[in-house]
Amino acid sequence: MWFERTKNLLVKLAIELPIIQAPMAGGATTPALVAAVSNAGGLGSIGAGYLSPNDIRIAITGTRALTNKPFSVNLFVTSSIKAKHIQVATINRNLDVYRKELHIQQVSDTADYVDLFKEQLAVVLEEKVPVFSFTFGIPSPEAIKILKDNNVIIMGTATTVNEGLQLENKGCDIIVAQGSEAGGHRGSFAGGFRTSLIGTMAFIPQLVDAVKIPVVAAGGIMDGRGLAASLILGASAVQMGTAFLTCPESGIHKKYKLAILDSTEESTVVTSVFSGKPARGIKNRFIEEMEVEQDNVADYPIQNTLTQDIRKEAAKQNRTEFMSLWAGQGTRLSKEKFAADFIESVISEAKKILNTCSRNL
Ligand SMILES: Cc1cc2nc3c(=O)[nH]c(=O)nc-3n(C[C@H](O)[C@H](O)[C@H](O)COP(=O)(O)O)c2cc1C
Repeated sequence: MWFERTKNLLVKLAIELPIIQAPMAGGATTPALVAAVSNAGGLGSIGAGYLSPNDIRIAITGTRALTNKPFSVNLFVTSSIKAKHIQVATINRNLDVYRKELHIQQVSDTADYVDLFKEQLAVVLEEKVPVFSFTFGIPSPEAIKILKDNNVIIMGTATTVNEGLQLENKGCDIIVAQGSEAGGHRGSFAGGFRTSLIGTMAFIPQLVDAVKIPVVAAGGIMDGRGLAASLILGASAVQMGTAFLTCPESGIHKKYKLAILDSTEESTVVTSVFSGKPARGIKNRFIEEMEVEQDNVADYPIQNTLTQDIRKEAAKQNRTEFMSLWAGQGTRLSKEKFAADFIESVISEAKKILNTCSRNL
């Protein structure tokens, strides 16, 4: 019953259903979640952006122990950065207020970032992962070539038509179109983030018209209605993040899950204060207070490194007011279902809608 373009994508990815569980770095995408999605016929994805090469291998092995179906690994396209000491000192002074409340000491006064993309990608290739996805930029032509030489399917993230065209021209096989409703970091890399906040409803048809490769819709899609609407707008499949965060298999903190289940369409904001890169999450005290210090926020990933101890300790102490609670605008629709049951409900609802539409038109 799927559209021809959806069928083509399912064949390409060797999966049965047009649902991709979003890669979500930071602990959500456990082997249990990724495998459950793939076993249910979708595409599970390991969010490996923050993982060391060795931990990526462990995550892949752990997932393979639970499924023999295809899944993807996702990385961040970043570069090494040396932090400016003066700026780091100023930011740390602001952050010390929170460290004091959490009874922790500042660990280091440097925040240099060493890019591990090459080493991380080497593991993806060695482990023969069939699908590789990325965000925050475009990998080098050498990286794209080696992925293609190894028959890996390449999925890039775009937040504008311009970015989608660049991904297509550089050799990507599939574009994940991230609308402004999306939870987590904005994947924008070619324009200002404010002008790249295009809603999924407006973005998908414009991108579909501009490119020849398949488009996957992401951002605010929480149920069968979102899937059906995305397919009608021209997407070949959907990528859902927030909807999977509240599954029992997801690895996020229990208080973070509760915050999602308690929140509404008005709860989230796009902020750079946690990581230095705009990301959508549930508004809390850290965001509200640090937004005033906007000028003292370092670029990604320096800010991310500087706030890491606070976020980790806050999680240990169950203090959501200092945790990054990434989530999209669809949180009111969140459920606590096992991934397989959730996928089943999304597919049956979408099928019902699409069948009714075709009968009545
Ligand atoms: C907690 C969280 C972490 C995320 N981490 C990543 C990531 O590591 N890589 C990536 O490409 N996208 C990441 N995203 C964005 C998703 O790929 C996707 O665009 C988004 O979840 C779609 O919107 P939704 O959350 O409303 O479903 C993340 C999203 C969330 C909610």
